[in-house]
Amino acid sequence: MKHIKVKDLLNSAKPLDDVLVKGWVRTFRNNQFLAINDGSTINNIQCVVDFENTSPEMLKRLTTSAAVAIHGNLVESQGAGQKYEVQVTKLEILGDSDAETYPIQLRNKPSLEFLRENAHLRVRTNVFGAIMRVRSVLSFAIHQYFQEKGFVYVNTPIITGSDAEGAGEMFRVTALPATGAPLNEEGKVDYKQDFFGKETNLTVSGQLEAETYAMSLGQVYTFGPTFRAENSNTSRHLAEFWMIEPEVAFNDLDANMDLAEDFIQYVIKYAMDRCQDDLAFLNQRLADEEKQKPTAERSEMGLLEKLQFVLDNNFKRVSYTEAIDILKNSKPNKNKKFNYIIEEWGADLQSEHERFLVEKHFKCPVILFDYPAKIKAFYMRLNEDNQTVRAMDILFPGIGEIVGGSQREERLDVLQQKIADLGIDEKELWWYLDTRRFGTAVHSGFGLGFERLVLFVTGMTNIRDVIPFPRTPQNAEF
Ligand code: 4AD
Ligand code: MG
Repeated sequence: MKHIKVKDLLNSAKPLDDVLVKGWVRTFRNNQFLAINDGSTINNIQCVVDFENTSPEMLKRLTTSAAVAIHGNLVESQGAGQKYEVQVTKLEILGDSDAETYPIQLRNKPSLEFLRENAHLRVRTNVFGAIMRVRSVLSFAIHQYFQEKGFVYVNTPIITGSDAEGAGEMFRVTALPATGAPLNEEGKVDYKQDFFGKETNLTVSGQLEAETYAMSLGQVYTFGPTFRAENSNTSRHLAEFWMIEPEVAFNDLDANMDLAEDFIQYVIKYAMDRCQDDLAFLNQRLADEEKQKPTAERSEMGLLEKLQFVLDNNFKRVSYTEAIDILKNSKPNKNKKFNYIIEEWGADLQSEHERFLVEKHFKCPVILFDYPAKIKAFYMRLNEDNQTVRAMDILFPGIGEIVGGSQREERLDVLQQKIADLGIDEKELWWYLDTRRFGTAVHSGFGLGFERLVLFVTGMTNIRDVIPFPRTPQNAEF
């Protein structure tokens, strides 16, 4: 008897004798129809129990989430809705699941909020099973894309001594015990005495290290966890998220935009080709959710249509200055959707402005570039106007910023001046500046927030629902 995955049973070319299925009970109807899922697909295999020859005690144990081993024959199904079913010959309970206390079954249609509190169990639902399979396929697609193009995958450090974004949103790392840490004269922890002999933190981005590698390996990418202690309790921010950061020597900003657009389209297509059942399910879930909304607020496109739209249309490339003009002229606060009006060139865009540009004005993904230097990080290439930098942000409908990137400042003297102006001690970045001292070259890169991509592809709206165990302010339960 062969243990066969549910997916393979459902795709079998012919009926099969003597199969073994192992999985968890989803539902058990009429003392006869058992729906088993093993995670290999969103679909369940229907197993038909010979209830007349099964003890009532055994039938009672077929509760939601019980682990079972089912022996039987795969036959063509009599009922509608499935091609095959298993006629059960032997039933084993591997692990009981008490129907009285199993949290998810206790509620009829558990809300996403409730499921978030049960992050260890929510993956047993169809929605989360689908999301996590899509997430896994997207991860693979990302590696596939860069590997096919000859990029080298670089593992940048998780513990660093630098603040790549200069935003001061870091989690401090210390090996010292909370009590008894040596203090300096100011009464603060003396990091010189600590494990690394200096202050260290969890990385906010692997970019600076990736740049040093791009200056030898040419094309590199990172794909790893990054950490931000920004206290933004929003549906788009996590304290721990995964970022993909390609960095390419000799690429200017235009080439950087081309790469980002091609890359995003590739991974979305990859998921659409390989996650058809899961995406069909998520598409339906979103359609059902939209139906609950007033007509005016409903999205014009379904999930699959939105994904196809991104594949079929070029991203609109617009400079920051053009975007500001559009925002000023569209008086977006009139329809009360905007609380914050852009008065001045130089202001940072709020997410409501980004969403206006993408969802109302252009109605497609937008790449904004050439931002004011003052609102962007120190490492971005200064333009000839001395006002703007070769930055780019990619904005997606329903998501806002999904990518942040730039052409890097490759001129040593300009970079040193920038660092000095910001009051950063140049000595802290001596290794970074070496890339500009020895064989400097034009180069560019970007960071894609992986969870924001997964949000877009799955049609979910809260970032906490697309990572297994979300880390947000006041929340690190699991
Ligand atoms: O725009 P950011 O801060 O750019 C950088 O970190 C650059 N060093 C990247 C580079 O050029 N190599 O972050 C990049 C992306 C954002 O566009 C967003 O998608 C995501 O990372 N991101 C977050 N995702 C979830 N939670 C957060 N708190 C995030 N902060 C940024
Ligand atoms: Mg950004």
